[in-house]
Amino acid sequence: MEIIIQPDPASASALAARVIVRLLRAKPDAVLGLATGSTPLLLYRELIRLHAAGEADFSRVRTFNLDEYIGLAPEHPQSYHSFMWQNLFGHINIDPRNVRIPDGQAADVPAFCAQYEEQIRAAGGIDIQVLGIGTDGHVGFNEPSSSLASRTRIKTLTVQTRRDNARYFGSEDQVPQHVITMGVGTVMDARQCLLLAFGSAKAPAIAAAVEGPITAMNPASILQMHPTAKVLLDEPAAASLKRADYYRWVYASKPDWQRL
Ligand code: PGA
Repeated sequence: MEIIIQPDPASASALAARVIVRLLRAKPDAVLGLATGSTPLLLYRELIRLHAAGEADFSRVRTFNLDEYIGLAPEHPQSYHSFMWQNLFGHINIDPRNVRIPDGQAADVPAFCAQYEEQIRAAGGIDIQVLGIGTDGHVGFNEPSSSLASRTRIKTLTVQTRRDNARYFGSEDQVPQHVITMGVGTVMDARQCLLLAFGSAKAPAIAAAVEGPITAMNPASILQMHPTAKVLLDEPAAASLKRADYYRWVYASKPDWQRL
């Protein structure tokens, strides 16, 4: 794992955007795995800015989103379909035919999930997967106890996640109980993973994911086994890391060819 601690979310998000733009230059039809929630908002804003500045072309990019609430229509304001069009896709030159987001209204959820996995495979796999982390250590909506080998499937949200997301819905009981999420194994198949986490509420989950044992109780901890996972943090999210000084020193000492 490469742990990169930045002074604030904007600088961490700018680094993540740079990694993505570099990929798009090398591979214009790259496959991006995308996340929702408050964490990637600044990254998406930066990608929109780079697109407007003529530095990022999404015309051939293909995308797969991590997850979606079951029961929400794509037009629902809190659906992750709405989120992605509002916060990214509506502002860049992506071809809507190249966008995949799990269908929260799929009649046959297991069949839909198998097809989603097949579509990822047919696209050649995910080049970069953007990830946030839940306060309970989830990635995608892979809640604690998720199999670390899991594939796209239905999950039931924890009380903690529904509480965390109640701010978007008005109340906790309006947050759907079920979701479709890429599995932990699906995420681990991505060629690169970029995990972003900001704010002190994420510090315990980050400390457990980065410095704790690999455990299904913190699904993000499996990223310790990923060959190219980058963890981009602001100072508050890094506050509980015991080796923070070492990670800062590693980043400051990067040889030129390795700089982001
Ligand atoms: P957040 O959610 O970005 O809104 O904090 C992250 C997550 O639940 O994965």
